[in-house]
Amino acid sequence: MHVYIFFVISILSGVWGLRNMSVRMPVAVRAGDRLRIACDYDLENAALYSVKFYQGDTEFYRFVPKESPPSRVFPLEGIQVDLSRSNSTVVTLDKVQRDLTGYYKCKVSADAPYFHTAEQSAPVIVIEEPLLLPRLNVEKSKYSANERIRANCTSEAAFPAANLTWLINHIQLRENPPAIRVHNRLLIDKLRGLETAVSMLELEARPGYFVEGKLKLTCLATQYNLYKRNASLLLQEDTPQLAPVMGATAPHSHPESRASLLTTDCTALWLTVLTVTVLSR
Ligand SMILES: *[C@@H]1O[C@H](CO)[C@@H](O)[C@H](O)[C@H]1NC(C)=O
Ligand SMILES: *[C@@H]1O[C@H](CO)[C@@H](O)[C@H](O)[C@H]1NC(C)=O
Ligand SMILES: *[C@@H]1O[C@H](CO)[C@@H](O)[C@H](O)[C@H]1NC(C)=O
Ligand SMILES: *[C@@H]1O[C@H](CO)[C@@H](O)[C@H](O)[C@H]1NC(C)=O
Ligand SMILES: *[C@@H]1O[C@H](CO)[C@@H](O)[C@H](O)[C@H]1NC(C)=O
Repeated sequence: MHVYIFFVISILSGVWGLRNMSVRMPVAVRAGDRLRIACDYDLENAALYSVKFYQGDTEFYRFVPKESPPSRVFPLEGIQVDLSRSNSTVVTLDKVQRDLTGYYKCKVSADAPYFHTAEQSAPVIVIEEPLLLPRLNVEKSKYSANERIRANCTSEAAFPAANLTWLINHIQLRENPPAIRVHNRLLIDKLRGLETAVSMLELEARPGYFVEGKLKLTCLATQYNLYKRNASLLLQEDTPQLAPVMGATAPHSHPESRASLLTTDCTALWLTVLTVTVLSR
């Protein structure tokens, strides 16, 4: 399930002998995992002279068919080439670490008579998962109508910082409605090179947010498609108990009608509940 960055060289179109060159690798990889960098090219019947792989501008692997053995590794700190998984189109690095984040380049040269050369590069990020699971804090757990709910979510010590998103009753807040404020902060530990993400959420406890008296608040921490963890809490609606005026039907027995009342105030809500109760009799 890797998302591949795909670069197709355009300046070479029309040049005979080396076409459709691209470098393929995941956008991000976990520290300690294996990184596979593929270099695709079409020599169009020309012979391959060499393929070279670089981290930044430093070469670490070369494949030259005419040499014996054809594969050669150049020592570069932190890079462990797995020769058994490397050839003329692929180089595999074992146990990559965070400082190998950066650009990787592949340079292909065709053999005589044209010696065409082309190169392409692409970035990769070596991530460190957050040291701790996301933490969710609220000031209190019970809210009366229109009180402010304030919550903080923290995802500690990662590289790069996890993205934090909020869900209310399993629904993701994408563009924040006017009554909801989200403030994100980044704390950077320069010594360890790790980042802590903090997100502060503030919203009004509207009755419509509570389903059967409860609001489920979730904070989701993600890093690309590699890390996904969440923390959640159930907040309670602090409402005076309504006397059973309309028979046995409880006021909280219509979650569907209540869920759609996100903008009504408390009075309107109770009126609606009563109306629904009357209609359902
Ligand atoms: C190379 O590119 C051409 C045109 O851009 C395309 O028709 C062809 O299928 C490509 N070949 C490969 C092997 O991707
Ligand atoms: C290089 O290795 C990759 C993966 O191990 C494989 O898919 C590919 O066919 C190999 N290429 C050549 C030219 O042997
Ligand atoms: C959230 O963080 C802010 C700033 O650190 C702090 O002032 C506030 O008390 C925190 N709120 C909660 C609910 O933890
Ligand atoms: C966070 O989200 C942004 C926007 O969707 C994305 O560009 C970025 O790569 C994400 N970062 C991480 C660490 O997942
Ligand atoms: C939160 O985590 C729990 C347990 O891992 C999982 O069942 C649930 O689907 C997650 N929720 C979201 C919104 O990702």
